[in-house]
Amino acid sequence: MRIAIVGANGQLGTDLMHLLEEAKVVSLYHRDIEIMDIYQVDEVLDAIDVEVVINLAAYHRVDECESQPNRALLVNGMGLRNLALNCQRHGRVLMHFSTDYVFDGRAGRPYHEDDPPLPLSAYGNSEVSGEHFVRAICDRYYLIRTSGLYGLAGSSGKGGNFVETMLRLAGEGQTIRVVDDQVLSPTSTADLALKVLELLETGRYGLYHITNAGWCSWYEFAAAIFNLAGVKADLRPTTSAEYGAPARRPAFSALENRRLQQIGLAPLRPWQEALAAYLAARRRA
Ligand SMILES: NC(=O)c1ccc[n+]([C@@H]2O[C@H](COP(=O)([O-])OP(=O)(O)OC[C@H]3O[C@@H](n4cnc5c(N)ncnc54)[C@H](OP(=O)(O)O)[C@@H]3O)[C@@H](O)[C@H]2O)c1
Repeated sequence: MRIAIVGANGQLGTDLMHLLEEAKVVSLYHRDIEIMDIYQVDEVLDAIDVEVVINLAAYHRVDECESQPNRALLVNGMGLRNLALNCQRHGRVLMHFSTDYVFDGRAGRPYHEDDPPLPLSAYGNSEVSGEHFVRAICDRYYLIRTSGLYGLAGSSGKGGNFVETMLRLAGEGQTIRVVDDQVLSPTSTADLALKVLELLETGRYGLYHITNAGWCSWYEFAAAIFNLAGVKADLRPTTSAEYGAPARRPAFSALENRRLQQIGLAPLRPWQEALAAYLAARRRA
């Protein structure tokens, strides 16, 4: 099957590109396609011969989205409408990635695919809007919610990833304050890339939560990074209120990968194992 990847040079895109046979992939970078622009989306996608479009393009600087809500809606909402319309017209499958931040985090347990979204932030709202367009327009889609991504390429949208930021701050000898009252399922893009390609082969379309297994607070995640990397750091827990970020974030947004299990695909390994593998790969690189 021939696949186009929109946002191919991001962190998940880079890991997907490593796994796919070069001759079967059309990689599209931001300079090739602006998903907000429906005319350009049609011009670029009409000209290629693919059966699947994987979209990784997003505006996901969560705090910035609070002051740029229109841009968030244009990229994460209307951009998805543009891609979905094109895929539907060509009879293509659309695979798109959304976020745990579509939930308000008050359930007190991991969220599964049937839980209703109730976002707290402009970013979360814009992602819900994109999800609606995909579901309303496409007959065949994979809509994948994931969380706390880190990959060797680093998020181009965020200028790195959490693991790299922590290691950099520790190297600078700074006191590092990390929130201990927001819990998530951190996820390796290397593991996610493998699983979504497996899913793509099944033809079992729909909404999926896909993350590494288990959960932790951002503070616990940072502590595990330093512990596994053998790095000494002055790490201190803080609260969301003390930290005072512009965007509200869910207190507990771990994702239960229920639907993956229902269709018989193995769960991803625990987040601690994935993190150890990332740190080892990073040392080799
Ligand atoms: N990172 C996370 O923690 C996280 C969590 C949950 C869900 N997700 C979702 O997972 C997907 C992959 O995340 P990632 O961290 O791998 O992303 P990433 O590294 O930031 O890569 C995004 C890619 O999309 C391109 N892009 C951005 N805006 C675009 C636009 N308007 N039109 C066309 N291309 C555009 C970027 O190019 P430039 O950099 O050149 O602009 C980049 O190549 C995204 O959909 C994201 O929303 C991410």
